[in-house]
Amino acid sequence: MNKLVTRSGIAAMFVVAALWAGCSQQKVEPMKATEIPEGTIDPAAWGKVYPVEYDMWKSTGQPTPAGKSRYKKGYDVGEARPDKLDEYPFLALLYNGWGFGSEYKEPRGHYFMVQDQLEVDPGRIKAGGSCLTCKTPYAPTLQKQMGGAYFSTPYKEVLARLPKDQQTLGVACIDCHDSKGMKLRISRGFTLGKALQAMGVDESKLTQQDMRTLVCAQCHVSYCIPKDKEMHSTDVVFPWAGSKVGNISIENIIKFIKSNPANGEWTQSVTGFKLGFIRHPEYELYSNNSPHWNQGVTCADCHMPQVTVNGQKVADHRVMSPLKADLKACAACHTETPDQLRRKIFEIQDATMSLYLRTGYQTATVAKIFEIANHAAAAGKPIDRSFYNEAREQYEQAFYRLIFIGAENSIGFHNPGETMRVLNDAARFAASAEVTLRLALNRAGIEVPAKVDLELTKYTNNRGQKKLMFHPEHEIKVPAPEKK
Ligand code: HEC
Ligand code: HEC
Ligand code: HEC
Ligand code: HEC
Repeated sequence: MNKLVTRSGIAAMFVVAALWAGCSQQKVEPMKATEIPEGTIDPAAWGKVYPVEYDMWKSTGQPTPAGKSRYKKGYDVGEARPDKLDEYPFLALLYNGWGFGSEYKEPRGHYFMVQDQLEVDPGRIKAGGSCLTCKTPYAPTLQKQMGGAYFSTPYKEVLARLPKDQQTLGVACIDCHDSKGMKLRISRGFTLGKALQAMGVDESKLTQQDMRTLVCAQCHVSYCIPKDKEMHSTDVVFPWAGSKVGNISIENIIKFIKSNPANGEWTQSVTGFKLGFIRHPEYELYSNNSPHWNQGVTCADCHMPQVTVNGQKVADHRVMSPLKADLKACAACHTETPDQLRRKIFEIQDATMSLYLRTGYQTATVAKIFEIANHAAAAGKPIDRSFYNEAREQYEQAFYRLIFIGAENSIGFHNPGETMRVLNDAARFAASAEVTLRLALNRAGIEVPAKVDLELTKYTNNRGQKKLMFHPEHEIKVPAPEKK
């Protein structure tokens, strides 16, 4: 068992944290509270009052220390930024036919979030203004001004409405703070606000502790961009219908996606299926009964711990991987050494990675067998439709579970048990899809080799408009068991 600070110890620490926030507010408020007019978006103006947080916030534009994280090398000193399609080549096959199959870089610091959209393959921002929803601090204003047109208007046209010097500004103080008193706030009422309300949450009753997670849940969540008949975006919706806070399940997310054809955002070229998509579900996975969530631990506890700068205690606004920050955040509650904790993280992540890779290739294999089946059907071979449809259902169940874990950025750490459950279910669905489909093909007299050629280079090379090529040096292989 872990040697942990006792529960009451943790509670006491939270009180201390709350007092600290209180103190620093008292320090600055009397002289400066009026200096940030309500609605000020430019962080430089906030920085005049809170220079320490401002400098840290700006430093999310700096590269992160190399060699500390095993799987999340977003923008590490001296290293090329990896693309998930090179790290996990089966994803290039599965996402072929859609922007994410062209370029799908690992995330990096907050400073870059809009810049990265301008740099990525243009196929990725085809949805329009919708794409800016969890990127620019101007999103709530744009949505109010433009109404429904905000979601479908071409990305660059929406961006051009902003002041020139603010167009590449990412998450800003106003996204998380009220300028009066610096209380944490939800700025995205039109997405997170609506979704919480639908789950019966009374926003006025949310505590500071809740907010230390919810400010992040404005963006670190999955969402659907429903389409009209012409494939124009109509909204940004969180697929949380039927779920509750603390139990937003992959089952409900899949049910939501499949409940409405408008959620079919793209067509998978290998299978010809119209599918939905799942994006960075950090909040969903973490809050679904994870050990830390159940103990009241927040995103900010691990990603924005208290640090001392020039003798002042502040929340670390250089948000990043705790591994890259030498696990200082963990020490607030854990008595193990950073080395011991690092080993625990890697153990969880390696186990996740093994199963994720295996399930990924298994799911990609089923996609290729669908390709064989579709060719055969087109050539007039009698493929049993009910078998085919059953296999398709099982395949989609596997696919969504696989990409849920693949899009989540902690490689299982945020919720180890749930991660393994979801991946195991994905593997089971993929296996039964394969059996059912092979049976249908066999009955139609079509041979499928025992080992299906995935033809990966067809998908990993010449990707998108930039014609990106496979970088084998970034491919992640099944981890070898750790020496004890
Ligand atoms: C306005 C939306 C938004 C909010 C709010 C937000 N994030 Fe992010 N976050 C992003 C985006 C987008 C990226 C990826 C940026 C890129 O790759 O260009 C990101 C990246 C990250 C990264 C990776 C950083 C790296 O160095 O690779 C971490 C860690 C992170 N966010 C944690 C958090 C936490 C914790 C919170 C709440 C305290 C939070 N974020 C709030 C949108 C947001
Ligand atoms: C108990 C500590 C803890 C909590 C709580 C926590 N995280 Fe994490 N998070 C981690 C660790 C450890 C990693 C793995 C980092 C790595 O592999 O480099 C991680 C990874 C991430 C990443 C990817 C970082 C990168 O460099 O690409 C993001 C984004 C993220 N977390 C966001 C969140 C959000 C949002 C929440 C709240 C919903 C949250 N985390 C809660 C510890 C935590
Ligand atoms: C992604 C969300 C997020 C963004 C963006 C953000 N903050 Fe914070 N900030 C927090 C969190 C979380 C805390 C800790 C609150 C608490 O005490 O519980 C915090 C605390 C603070 C505090 C209280 C003192 C401290 O450091 O603990 C100040 C002042 C502050 N932030 C200023 C800023 C300024 C200035 C900016 C913009 C340059 C900014 N913040 C951007 C989330 C954010
Ligand atoms: C705010 C307090 C807090 C912070 C910060 C925190 N933890 Fe924890 N952690 C806990 C508590 C409490 C438990 C026990 C949960 C349980 O037993 O259900 C726990 C459990 C764990 C476990 C599972 C225990 C086991 O081995 O069975 C691991 C691993 C872990 N934490 C790692 C980390 C790492 C790594 C960090 C920093 C990135 C971190 N924690 C940050 C409070 C915290």
